[in-house]
Amino acid sequence: MNFHILTLFPEMINQGLNTSIIGRAINNEIISINTVDIRDFTKDKHKKVDDYPYGGGAGMLMQAQPIYDAYQNVIKKINNKTKVVYLTPQGKLFNQEKAKSLAKEEDLIILCGHYEGIDERVLDLIVTDYLSIGDYVLTGGELPAMVMIDAISRNVSGVLNNELSTECESLEENLLEYPQYTRPDDFIGHKVPEVLLSGNHANIKKWRRQESLKRTYERRPDLLKDANLTKEDKEYLQRLTASL
Ligand code: ADE
Repeated sequence: MNFHILTLFPEMINQGLNTSIIGRAINNEIISINTVDIRDFTKDKHKKVDDYPYGGGAGMLMQAQPIYDAYQNVIKKINNKTKVVYLTPQGKLFNQEKAKSLAKEEDLIILCGHYEGIDERVLDLIVTDYLSIGDYVLTGGELPAMVMIDAISRNVSGVLNNELSTECESLEENLLEYPQYTRPDDFIGHKVPEVLLSGNHANIKKWRRQESLKRTYERRPDLLKDANLTKEDKEYLQRLTASL
C-alpha cells in the first residue's frame, strides 16, 4: 500500500514512521510513504503558502494553488480515483473499522493542514473523506496522519509478523481484549489466573471471552451496543451487572 502525504512538514512524517514495525514494513516494501512538500509547489517567489482570510478573522489560511498542484503531481502517477483524506477535527471519527477498510486501498492520499485551515475551494475540489482522530484540536494534521498510517498499515497483509495478532485484539467485534500475562507466574505476590496455567483450552477460551466482556462493560460500555453477542455472552453480562 502506498501512502502519499501532502504536508508542509515532510520530515516530521518521515522521522515519525521510520522505526519499529512500520519502519520494517517500509524497508520490506510492503508499504511506502511518499511525502510531498506542499511548499515545493508554490508559485510565490518568497515560497509563501499561506495568506489572510477574506472577511477577516484570526490566523492565516493555506492557499489553494500549492495544494492543488501538489495533488495533481501525485495523481498523474497513480489512479485518479484514489481517495483523498483531509485530517480535521471537523471530520468523521476515525476508528478500527475505518482503518481496516482503508487498508484495502492500493494508494491513499492524505492532506495535512496547518495554521488556521485551508482555502475551502481546494478541499471541495480534491477531498473525498474528512476524518478526525478525536474530539480535540491539534496544531496540524501531521500527527493524525501518522496515527492513521500506523493503524491502517497494521491491517495490511505482511506488516505484522503474526497475522493472527489482529484477529483477537482490542476492538475486534467492538470488544476490548482480555488481560494477558507472561512469566513469572508469581510477580511480587501477584499470581497469574489459575485457569491460564491449566492447559484446558476450552476453559481458557471461555475465561478470555468473559474477561473481554467484563472489561468492555467496565471501561467502554458504549461499545457493547454494536458488539456481536451470543446468548451466553448476554447471560454472562446479566449475571455480572446483577452482582455489581
Ligand atoms: N487536525 C487538528 N486536529 C485534528 C484532529 N483532532 N484530528 C484530525 N486532524 C486534526
